[in-house]
This record gives sequence, C-alpha cells and structure tokens, in this order.
Amino acid sequence: MEDKKQKRAKRRVVTGIRPTGPLHLGHLYGNIRQMIELTETHDCFYFSADYHVLTDKAERLELSDLVEDNLVDLIACGLDPSKCTLFRQSDIPQIPEFNLILSMVTPVGLLERCPLYREQVKELGIDNPSYGLLGYPVLQTADICMYRGEIVPVGEDQLPNLYISADIAGTFRFRYGDIFPVPEAKIMEVFARIPGTDNRKMSKSYGNAINISYDEETTRKLILTYYTDPKKPRKGDVGHPDECPVFYLHRLYLEGEPLGVVRRGCEDGGRMCYDCKEELASEVNEALRPIRLRREELKGNRDELHGILDKGAKKARKVAAEVLGECRKAIGIERM
Ligand code: TRP
Repeated sequence: MEDKKQKRAKRRVVTGIRPTGPLHLGHLYGNIRQMIELTETHDCFYFSADYHVLTDKAERLELSDLVEDNLVDLIACGLDPSKCTLFRQSDIPQIPEFNLILSMVTPVGLLERCPLYREQVKELGIDNPSYGLLGYPVLQTADICMYRGEIVPVGEDQLPNLYISADIAGTFRFRYGDIFPVPEAKIMEVFARIPGTDNRKMSKSYGNAINISYDEETTRKLILTYYTDPKKPRKGDVGHPDECPVFYLHRLYLEGEPLGVVRRGCEDGGRMCYDCKEELASEVNEALRPIRLRREELKGNRDELHGILDKGAKKARKVAAEVLGECRKAIGIERM
C-alpha cells in the first residue's frame, strides 16, 4: 500500500512512446519539451511502449535497439532520468496479467467502435486484424492504471484511446473498488505543429522529418529542400513569412530583432529563400549540437543506459506489484 497510502505530493503522470523509429524535431519541440517540463511539477512515469509496436507490424523488428535509441534521444534532449521513472514497457511483467484482467471488463463493441482502430485497419489494408490490434486500448489502459496514472499527456489524436481507458477504468472501479484512479487525458499543447520539409506535419511516415540523430550535413541538406512560399520563387519577390514553414522554424531559435530581420527580408523580397534555409540549418545544427554529443556519449556507454533502465524498471515494478496484488484480491483470485 506504500505507493497509495503515502499521499503523493505530486500528481502522477504516465505516458508512453511507441518505439517505431528515430525521434525528430517534431518530437523535440512538441512532446519531449512538455515531458521535461512536467517532471518539475509531477511524478512522471515515462516508458517505451514496445509491445504496442507489435500490434500492427508483420515483420520482425529489432525492438530492443529501437527502444534504446528512443530512450537515448529522450535523455540527450534533456529528460533527466533522476527526475522521473523511465523504463521499457516489456520490463514490467505485471503488465500482461493486468491487461488480461482489464480485458474482462472491456466490451468488444467498445474496441470495435474505436476510430483509431478503424482507421488503422483501413489505412494499413488489414483484412484480418489481430486480437492484439483490437486490444490496443486495453493494453494502453493497463500501461496507465498499472502505475495509478492520473494524467496522461498525449497528442490530440490519442483522445479516442483515452476515452476507452476512462471507460475501462470506470467499469473496473464500479465492479471491484477504488484501486486506481480514472485517468484523464492532457492534450499536449504541441507548442508548435512542427512542419516537415514538405510543409505537412513532421512525421516519420511522411518522410519529411529532421531526425535528432542526423549529422550536421544531412540536416543541412534536408533543410535546403524545405518547401517555401511558392509565391516567392525568386529573390526580389515579396514573401509571406507567416505561411512559410522555414520562417515558422526560425521562430524556434530567434526572437526580437534577429527574427525581425528575417521577417522583413522575406516581406520586402531582399532575402533569398536559399539563404534563409542556410541560416535555419545553422540554427538547427547549433541547437542540436549538445544534444547530439550527449547522444553519442550515451550510445557509447551501454552500461550507463542499462543502469538507467534497470533503475526505472525496478521503481515501476514496485508500484505495479502493489496495484496488481490489490487487483487479484479485488477480483477474488487471491484471498483478501
Ligand atoms: N498509443 C500511444 C501512441 O501511439 C502510445 C502509448 C502506449 C501510450 N501506451 C500508452 C500513451 C499509455 C499514453 C499512455 O502515442
């Protein structure tokens, strides 16, 4: 009862990231920044959701590498593992049992109606979706309630899953009692909807992303391919910075007069898009330099990384064991 009794001074935040590939600027200036901020005010449990990757991948992936790569990115970006509980989903053996228990209070219809499930089945052209894919939101609920998560920072697209989590948690509590709270979504105010090179939202699947792990030359070359205002094909043409993703990104690195110079140069036509992109590339590379150095350091020091993950898993398992123990009693498979 330790975790529950000792009135926590801080509210508990739980969120997971599916390790589907390298993290990019969209993650850094969206989720990661907020995840770091939350560690100052909340008791945060952050994990890499490796089981969740298996829900829609037919091919075998080297998941343990993908997990480590994401965690290295997070730490290098400034997430301090001593200020949160950082771990890997599959390191918590209580998760599958809890998932099973929660599945017993989950109506199939609720899962079948989930718009994210429907979209995925349609988009990926899956004509024979797996039980695991249908159960994705159940596993996600286990991830949250396992650690008595109260607040779940997610992107807006995840809302349908969080409604399902609240539904499952509510049903469990109604039947068996108050063991964990009903979790609540907290929409991450992605400070920015970071645009990718083609001016769509930056995303690995669009192939328009600037990865944190890229080297400086790759970064520069990619930034030089950025979409810019099509009404300004030549120097001298008047530009529209507020519609341009390159200007949008400059705003992450510049403010006041230096930003004013960029804006005016674009608006009065004196500035060439090419130069504007070269400058942006320098800004991005400069901002990422310390992050990339820390990344290399961590990559080269597996022991440090494994130490961090072991410590996180231990802390998470302690809470998980407590919650699962209470659940087993509450549902009657273990004596009170
Ligand atoms: N479904 C989430 C996503 O794709 C990842 C996730 C798995 C998650 N388990 C979670 C998010 C628990 C929050 C809480 O982004």
